[in-house]
Amino acid sequence: MIEANIDLQPHNTLAIPANTAFFARVETLDELREALSFAQQKRLPILPLGGGSNIVLTGDFPGLAIQVGLRGLTIAPSGRGGTIEAAAGEGWHRLVMSSVERGMGGLENLALIPGNVGAAPIQNIGAYGVELCDRFCSLQAMEISTGELHQFSASDCEFAYRDSVFKGRLQDQYIITQVNLRLAEDWQPKVSYPALQQFIEQQGWDCNSLTPAQIAGAVTDVRNSKLPLPDQIPNAGSFFKNPVVNADIYQSLKAQHPDLVAYASGASWKLAAGWLIDRAGWRGRRHEAVGVHHQQALVLVNPGRGSGDAVTGLARAIASDVQDKFGVTLEPEPRYYP
Ligand code: FAD
Ligand code: EPU
Repeated sequence: MIEANIDLQPHNTLAIPANTAFFARVETLDELREALSFAQQKRLPILPLGGGSNIVLTGDFPGLAIQVGLRGLTIAPSGRGGTIEAAAGEGWHRLVMSSVERGMGGLENLALIPGNVGAAPIQNIGAYGVELCDRFCSLQAMEISTGELHQFSASDCEFAYRDSVFKGRLQDQYIITQVNLRLAEDWQPKVSYPALQQFIEQQGWDCNSLTPAQIAGAVTDVRNSKLPLPDQIPNAGSFFKNPVVNADIYQSLKAQHPDLVAYASGASWKLAAGWLIDRAGWRGRRHEAVGVHHQQALVLVNPGRGSGDAVTGLARAIASDVQDKFGVTLEPEPRYYP
């Protein structure tokens, strides 16, 4: 059923107040097709919605927001891995924990990432040294213009750091309906991410006998120590991507700031944007309704449930200051609508 003039504040984790001209929650492929043809007839733009944890509403949306509520989760363990087929409306964390509870390894580093399965490929979600593309097999998506279903392999998706073909060449052309994952049978723990390694050392756990459940627990504790829960403090996770720079820029910044945090990424370097923003003096600062989280400067928060303009204004001020102080350009991670 399509409803008119619906408040999207409960549908975005930044809790920005904004309306959508039309809203539909779809639970079957036929309902999704019907919603798409309604939008086509009225020439409306479409906003596919999962949990709303990676969007910034800069104003009212003049089209049809479609909450993708397709359900279904099939898990087939094999050895310490197996395969998973998940419909787009399943919760990502539920999928991770359902596999971990069956003794399967491979997704534990991605525990507690908010949102739904259908959004996970959009920015190739990643955390603690693992990205979706490392466990991805294929996906199914409905073409918005035709209602036809298409299969995409990993290479079709053109995954990269916080990026995929669905943010580039094929942006706004498909609704993801199902994601298929493959977890290797010879699972090995991946705990080299500094904060994770430190947590495991503090617990005194033996690195040779770690289980997926232990690592999922460790990731949960580390995340909870610095990332605010959106229910308590509205936010969209990291507001900017970690900027990737060439070796010359990295060397010159490192010479000026010996404690700069950066990770080698092929021939390039990924700078910790949180460190840059923190060092520029923004951590914990509040500007009316919005602010910068006091435990993680990469997370903008909206405790006063301010407007999209308030959030994007603060983001612009931070990016401009980081540009002035370090000569580095910050790019927002969540997508702005409209
Ligand atoms: P939404 O916000 O609803 O949508 C995000 C984008 O995907 C939008 O452009 C939307 O139109 C599109 N989209 C959604 N569903 C579909 C679909 N079925 N088909 C086509 N397009 C679709 N991300 C990480 O990568 N790593 C992290 O560690 C991480 N930590 C976070 C921590 C917090 C506290 C928060 C609030 C966010 C964090 N995020 C992280 C960001 C976010 O959780 C992910 O990007 C997640 O995949 C978004 O899922 P969602 O269902 O909420 O997507
Ligand atoms: N740092 C500071 N000050 C801060 C914040 C961070 O100095 O205020 C330093 C930390 O001390 C640490 C480094 O920056 O040495 C990196 O911080 P952290 O481990 O918290 O990770 P991040 O680079 O800020 C990225 C992802 C997160 C993901 C974590 C763990 C991006 C944009 N963000 O954050 O993803 O959970 O690594 O892998 O890549 C998200 O995308 O929404 C998200 C939360």
